[in-house]
Amino acid sequence: MTVPSAPAFTWVAQAAEIAREAGARLREFYAEGVETEYKGDVDLVTVADRTSEKLIRARLSEVFPVHGIFGEEGTRDRLDAEFRWYIDPLDGTTNFAHGFPQFCVSMGLEQRTPGLDPEQDGQLVAGVIYDPLRDELFAAERCKGAWLNGKPMHVSRTPVLAESLVATGFPSRKRHASPNIHFYQEFTLRSHGVRRAGSAALDLAYVAAGRMEAFWEFNLNPWDTAAGILLVEEAGGRVTDFSGHHFRIASEEILASNTRIHDELLGFFSDMFAGRDLAPIPTAAEWAAQRAAVLKG
Ligand code: IPD
Ligand code: CA
Ligand code: CA
Repeated sequence: MTVPSAPAFTWVAQAAEIAREAGARLREFYAEGVETEYKGDVDLVTVADRTSEKLIRARLSEVFPVHGIFGEEGTRDRLDAEFRWYIDPLDGTTNFAHGFPQFCVSMGLEQRTPGLDPEQDGQLVAGVIYDPLRDELFAAERCKGAWLNGKPMHVSRTPVLAESLVATGFPSRKRHASPNIHFYQEFTLRSHGVRRAGSAALDLAYVAAGRMEAFWEFNLNPWDTAAGILLVEEAGGRVTDFSGHHFRIASEEILASNTRIHDELLGFFSDMFAGRDLAPIPTAAEWAAQRAAVLKG
């Protein structure tokens, strides 16, 4: 089979170069080891996050001087521009800080027609996610497909959740308020398994690459999702909120899939939110009583 050559990209080639450069810096920090600071309860940040954002900001401003930049570590440049980059300079900081090899750089580009209401979404037009440890570069531009290291990439063809591998994540802020453990339990019972690998952007890239069938999470930010959404859509997948509405960049809830299992997943979310068909998780006291009974014989 001949591999189609990548189309002429408008933004991805330069963005990929910048993501690779930032990724190379992250690789150096990872090898050296870095001190961890706390932004919140268990919300970690390191010198690597800040250095990577600084580098991406400087390089993007050279290459696309009129584009806006919205970065996790505080960059807010030219937000009235027609084009806006959402940057996660290090997605998977907790992994990075512990030496767990799953993290990436994520850069998503939104085009906002001049005069668009600040509350309205523009259109995602480009996305690049770079995993520096595996040297994997996931990239997409609207209507030009999705690519992994220069080869076309597609979502999987798995037709049902029961045969799927899925992924999720848990927030590092307001952990007590997250209902996700219940969804984790239900998805675990209904699929081949749930991965919680700690980088939402890579989770989305893996759905796009057909390595997993779906990903959901409750409390994400535009820098986590902008690039990955376009990757999934351009690879043939579907991205919505938990009610099936078109995904909005400011939406915190995201459901991304290979399209084929999406309606089944939406039905499942609807049942969960209505409290139907749940397999209750025994309380700690119930487990303790069961265990004590077994030990007693
Ligand atoms: C986090 C990761 C993680 C997800 C968290 C995010 P960060 O981003 O994407 O997988 O579960 O919700 O905050 O803090 O490592 O950039
Ligand atoms: Ca992130
Ligand atoms: Ca980050």
